[in-house]
Amino acid sequence: MAGGEAIVITGTPGVGKTEVAKMLSRETGRKLIELNALAKESGGIKGRDIARETSIVDVAAVRRALRKALKGNQNVIIEGHFAEIVPGAFVKATIVLRCNPLVLKERLIGRGYPDSKVKENVEAELLDSCLIAAVKSFGDRVREIDTTGREVSDVAKEAERVLRGKGGLLAGSVNWISVLEIEGRLQDLIH
Ligand SMILES: Nc1ncnc2c1ncn2[C@@H]1O[C@H](COP(=O)(O)OP(=O)(O)OP(=O)(O)O)[C@@H](O)[C@H]1O
Ligand SMILES: [Mg+2]
Repeated sequence: MAGGEAIVITGTPGVGKTEVAKMLSRETGRKLIELNALAKESGGIKGRDIARETSIVDVAAVRRALRKALKGNQNVIIEGHFAEIVPGAFVKATIVLRCNPLVLKERLIGRGYPDSKVKENVEAELLDSCLIAAVKSFGDRVREIDTTGREVSDVAKEAERVLRGKGGLLAGSVNWISVLEIEGRLQDLIH
C-alpha cells in the first residue's frame, strides 16, 4: 500500500468509528486525531446546516490543520466520517467500518436523531457513500470491516490485522442491498 504512514478510520455516523479508533490507538500507541474535534479547534466549522442538523466543514481549513498536525508525526489514526478530506499522500491504509443498515437505524433512533437524519444516514450506509468517497481518495489502500454483531474489541483486532496487510475485506465486498433483499427487509428500509 503506497502513501504515507497515517491510518484512516471512516464510515457512516454511528458505525463505531470513535470507539474502534480509541481502542486501536491504545493498542498500537498511535496518536488519535478526531476530525470532528480538529475541525472545531481549527476554525474549520463554517456554519450549520439547520435542515440537515449538521455542521458545514471548511475543507481548506481542516486540511491546513491536518498538514500541520501530521508534519512531525504521521504515526497516527485519523477518525471521522468526512475522512476523504485527508490528503492522500499521508495515508497508508483506510478502514471503512460498515454496519447493517437495520442495526444502524435502531442505533441512530436510540441516539435521539430526528427521522430525517436517521433516514439520511441509513441511506448513506445502504448506498456505500463513505466507501465510495474513500475509494475516490485512497484507491486500493481501502479495506472494509463489517462490524455487525461484533464487539468493538473484535473489530479493533481486525483493524490491527489490516495494518499488518492481512485482515479486512477488499473495497466493494459489503453489499447491504443484496443482504437485505435476501432477508426480505429491503422494502422496510426504503419506505
Ligand atoms: N461493534 C459495536 N457493536 C455494538 N455497538 C457498538 C459497536 N461499535 C459502536 N457501538 C455503539 O454505537 C454507538 C456509536 O459508536 P461511535 O460513537 O463510536 O460511532 P461513530 O461512528 O464514531 O459515530 P459519529 O460519526 O456520530 O461520531 C455507541 O453507543 C457505541 O457504544
Ligand atoms: Mg465518532
